[in-house]
Amino acid sequence: MEKKLIKLDNKININSKKQWKFDSSVVSTFDSHINKSVPNYADSHNLILSLAKDLLSEKSKVLDIGCSTGTLLYKLYKEINFDLDLVGIDISKDMINFAKKNIKHTKIKFFNCGLSKFKQSKFDFIISFYTLQFMHSTEKKEFLVDSYKKLNNGGHMIVFDKVTEETGWEQKIFQSAYDDFKRHNEFSNEEIYNKTEKLRGVLHPNSRKENYKIFKEINFKSIFLLSKNLFFEGYLLKK
Ligand SMILES: C[S@@+](CC[C@H](N)C(=O)[O-])C[C@H]1O[C@@H](n2cnc3c(N)ncnc32)[C@H](O)[C@@H]1O
Repeated sequence: MEKKLIKLDNKININSKKQWKFDSSVVSTFDSHINKSVPNYADSHNLILSLAKDLLSEKSKVLDIGCSTGTLLYKLYKEINFDLDLVGIDISKDMINFAKKNIKHTKIKFFNCGLSKFKQSKFDFIISFYTLQFMHSTEKKEFLVDSYKKLNNGGHMIVFDKVTEETGWEQKIFQSAYDDFKRHNEFSNEEIYNKTEKLRGVLHPNSRKENYKIFKEINFKSIFLLSKNLFFEGYLLKK
């Protein structure tokens, strides 16, 4: 029997029965898809670029964990007018292959691995941009502890995360507003429903309170809320 393909946006066709994966079925149109699915996506990248201009200096080492297509690292390379050592890692082989193929600069290196298998030494700036929500709660703490260990003293980590809200009421009105946001970006109700189904069992969001508890347990010296739009939050952490 022929499988029914569901149109998710103008380019991505996905099979509604399969769980979401960062594989070859999404790689080539990933950037446009995430731009339409995550509120303030481009602005959040720009915010990271602005902060990097103040927090980094010549030869600073930057690690982007869950770098996907490498777009943010490429923006850092292009828009910061001093030399940085830029490294991206991702557990998706297809994402890393795509990044390597499309971004060929000696200053940007890509590796297909998770943080626990990544052997390079310390960094001044670590970015985790919408990667944490894909980890189970036990994995999140281990991941953040490993990130902390990989930071130089005085270094910064930027985490963007999709969270759940503290109360049922907030969760409900934010969900409705988020669905409106996606409809505004030309996703149909069917597409919104199918994406939600595909993400079942894939997303494991914490609340901000749970995230802060982990950041404090790990001993990050300072924790700032950088931005929040519905479920989408960014934090700046200092070691
Ligand atoms: C939503 S995308 C990240 C978007 C990207 N950071 C950006 O700036 O557009 C999540 C990425 O995290 C990767 N990922 C998920 N779990 C990971 C882990 N434990 N370690 C490294 N990468 C991971 C996925 O393969 C995927 O490419």
